[in-house]
Amino acid sequence: MERGLFVTFEGIDGCGKTTQIEMLSSDLEKENIPFVLIREPGGTDIGEKIRTILLDKANSRMHARTELLLYEAARAQIVEERIKPELSYGKVVICDRFFDSTVAYQGIARDLGLQAVDYLNHWSTAGLAPDITFLLDLDEETAYRRRHGRSDEEDRLEAEGLAFMKKVREGYLLSSRDQPRIRVISATDTPEVIYEKIKKTIWEELEK
Ligand SMILES: Nc1ncnc2c1ncn2[C@@H]1O[C@H](COP(=O)(O)OP(=O)(O)O)[C@@H](O)[C@H]1O
Ligand SMILES: [Mg+2]
Repeated sequence: MERGLFVTFEGIDGCGKTTQIEMLSSDLEKENIPFVLIREPGGTDIGEKIRTILLDKANSRMHARTELLLYEAARAQIVEERIKPELSYGKVVICDRFFDSTVAYQGIARDLGLQAVDYLNHWSTAGLAPDITFLLDLDEETAYRRRHGRSDEEDRLEAEGLAFMKKVREGYLLSSRDQPRIRVISATDTPEVIYEKIKKTIWEELEK
């Protein structure tokens, strides 16, 4: 492997990204395949500072465009400081969310406009895109239940939160059209069934 392999995981909260990344990491470790896990917007000193600004409750007045630019700023840094160097060493770079999240959340669900978001994504990464993206597709209600567990008391599904997640899911599916890089996987199956598909794709790619 000369150039490494850039793999990203996408999908709404609770769809199973972390679960799959853990399964993949443990297999890569077993087979002594060098890899790194990366999570935006942290991962660099500058990115951590940006993350603090994004999470600070005192910043509740932050405009959606400000938020978008902060994510892009952290992304520009992590691409140059970590992703590109690790790929040049031939590693597998695994990102828990990357710019497709910005398309689905900011571009579509928050309606900041796809043209602007696509442009900023391209610009902040200097054109670097994942080799493979797994979109774990799950309906918002199942994802909500997975995150909150089952409870006997009436499940107060936050209507607004669910409507937003539905938009994000649709945004992801829309942006995956005509993009062979994005592999849409139904996330309703068991973790093992989902992982088999992911593993097959990655190992095929590693053997190229
Ligand atoms: N395929 C699956 N089927 C059922 N539950 C799952 C599945 N994958 C993950 N979970 C559970 O759902 C919850 C959310 O999974 P997680 O991997 O943290 O999702 P994400 O990182 O996308 O938010 C966890 O409790 C996890 O154990
Ligand atoms: Mg997670």
